[in-house]
Amino acid sequence: MKTVSPFLELEDDDRVPVRFAGRTLDLPDGANLAAALLAAGVQVFRHTAVSGAPRAPFCMMGACFECLVEIDGVVRQACMTDVREGMEISRPHESEAEDAIE
Ligand code: FES
Repeated sequence: MKTVSPFLELEDDDRVPVRFAGRTLDLPDGANLAAALLAAGVQVFRHTAVSGAPRAPFCMMGACFECLVEIDGVVRQACMTDVREGMEISRPHESEAEDAIE
């Protein structure tokens, strides 16, 4: 049976709420953030500055920077970050771009 995400999770994880792009997600506490977001069905982590093309994690080891997200106001690599309760996560510069259009 096909699921929303091709990633499987362990079922006994303690979950904590985080916010991503205005949605509340319950992610496994202490898990790799990039993996947890992918498993939750997030497919777009950021958009490129020039063309606006969608990007998502590629290397999962801190080399490609395709997984950049803004966490509590700081742009960081999701694949190098652990999930913790109450994180406020957004796509980098997304609100700035919307402000510039208005
Ligand atoms: S997925 Fe490549 S740096 Fe995070």
